[in-house]
Amino acid sequence: MDDMRDIQWFPGHMASARREIAKSLPLVDAVVEMLDARIPAASANPEFPALIGSKPCLVVLNKADMADEAVTKQWLRLFEARGYAAAATDSKTGRGVKAVIPALERLLASKRAALKEKGMTGLPIRAMILGIPNVGKSSLINRLAGAKRAKAEDRPGVTRARQWIHAPGLDLLDTPGVLWPKFDDEETALRLAFTGAIRDEILETEALAARLLRFLADNYPTALRERCKIQQSDVQAEGTALLEMTARNRGMLLKGAEADTERAAAAVLDEFRAGKFGRISLEKPENDI
Ligand code: G4P
Repeated sequence: MDDMRDIQWFPGHMASARREIAKSLPLVDAVVEMLDARIPAASANPEFPALIGSKPCLVVLNKADMADEAVTKQWLRLFEARGYAAAATDSKTGRGVKAVIPALERLLASKRAALKEKGMTGLPIRAMILGIPNVGKSSLINRLAGAKRAKAEDRPGVTRARQWIHAPGLDLLDTPGVLWPKFDDEETALRLAFTGAIRDEILETEALAARLLRFLADNYPTALRERCKIQQSDVQAEGTALLEMTARNRGMLLKGAEADTERAAAAVLDEFRAGKFGRISLEKPENDI
């Protein structure tokens, strides 16, 4: 990780998040852990299992519209095999969101059957949503509740009075729990940076874009060739060479016909984050980058 700058993962933020989550946990039947479908491992906070203990958990792979559908299916199977309920969503358009409540009902089926025996039927499920900043927590809450209500407060130490948002069959804590990404190894940091989950300053923009282009060349060569006009014969080139080719192919030149790799890098990252390279998964369950 020699070329990474000042990597840290906000231990203070995590401590305050941990306190908030510990306070809310006794109030809910289940936790929804929201992950980015493109990076289900990198967007998972490693402290999560210890934080939630034995509370039943639904894993939601959000931004599934931006991820490779086949890879997302593999992740869903993996999480289910690990004992979680799992669903894939696009909280921006609402696609997949209607599967969330039935998934929670299945997850809590035995608890709810026991309540039914005691004559307690029709109780809404109480849940809280946890996830890293920008993963789509507020969007999902708004989708489930059918209103513009929630916006996670990312600043540590800033809390609001807890309120419940009522959706049919579901009561949600209106303040989603913000977990901080842990990016202490290079691959995790890169994946978080590619998606824009952590700030670009972590690595120079050009180095970051070069790493992304190399990943695309290995895993999504058609998307790379089409978007950056890279020839098939050049796909094996180093990331920095791919970036230079991209700049030249797009006419991004400096004085003296030098390739403007800085401009090309910013464009590549922006376009990747906007989904213009197509649906791309940066992590596969059995074959990490
Ligand atoms: P948070 O509460 O976890 O911090 O995330 P939030 O819902 O605020 O969502 C962060 C950004 O991600 C928003 O974009 C939101 O629209 C987008 N987003 C959320 N879910 C999805 C999804 O499933 N698919 C896609 N493609 N995008 C999603 P933004 O640029 O900050 O705002 P805007 O574009 O909505 O104006």
